[in-house]
Amino acid sequence: MRIVLMGAPGSGKGTQSQRLVEYFGIPQISTGDLLRSAVARGTEYGMRAKAAMDAGLLVVDEIVLGIFGERLAEPDTANGFILDGFPRNIAQAQALSKLLGTLKTPLDAVVLFEVNYEEIIKRISGRRSCQTCGRVFNVYSAPAGSAPHCDKCDDKPVLVQRKDDEEETVRMRLEVYEQQTRPLAKFYRDQGLLRTIDAQDSVEQVTARLIATLDSLPAAKPLRNARSKAS
Ligand code: AP5
Repeated sequence: MRIVLMGAPGSGKGTQSQRLVEYFGIPQISTGDLLRSAVARGTEYGMRAKAAMDAGLLVVDEIVLGIFGERLAEPDTANGFILDGFPRNIAQAQALSKLLGTLKTPLDAVVLFEVNYEEIIKRISGRRSCQTCGRVFNVYSAPAGSAPHCDKCDDKPVLVQRKDDEEETVRMRLEVYEQQTRPLAKFYRDQGLLRTIDAQDSVEQVTARLIATLDSLPAAKPLRNARSKAS
């Protein structure tokens, strides 16, 4: 199954991708994570992407398509993938259609997460990431009286706030989303691929909604069969 998760910054794409990776056994490809990793490693792509990311702007298509193409070529994408944060504008969507058309592996669905901006600001202001494994948490959903901690890494690694989660940068990212990314909803609706879900509720409720939507796609069947044989 090949799907795209689209939605505003903080709408929950990364959080839900992690759950879909476990449910369907296909990898998540997050261009944001790939770019942050390139910045941290100081690669040429990373050095060129950093200024745009710090300002809350889109990184130029040439870099994003280069980094995405390299990831897509890895063997774990053979049974499908979850695209998180890509494509982000019409030019990227057209490049993706062309690439997948050449490979004869078209998209199965594009899921748009709808969340109001008040909730988005709250989620982003509370987001913290594990410095060791990159998993994402939130101070507002930590059990009462305790600081959020990474339940995967047992040596209490530091949870950090993303630099582009500062208020002014978030405002810019939301503006960029409205101007450049939201028009993709029409692009994919016109192709019959768009599914919209209310992503305002709890993580568990959104996961249930998302899985119900994806499980109804014909492409989900082989993955379900593989899962039941493995268990
Ligand atoms: P990217 O990393 O893609 O950021 P984004 O799209 O802005 O998305 P976020 O990671 O902010 O949010 P999310 O929807 O994944 O939410 P999350 O699950 O973390 O991009 C960063 C930058 O990289 C861009 O600005 C750009 O510069 C560059 N870039 C990336 N891709 C690019 C591309 N294709 N082209 C050009 N440039 C590109 O959730 C947020 C918080 O809310 C978390 O704390 C989470 O725990 C919590 N949460 C999640 N769901 C719920 C829920 N249902 N209820 C309560 N809390 C929740």
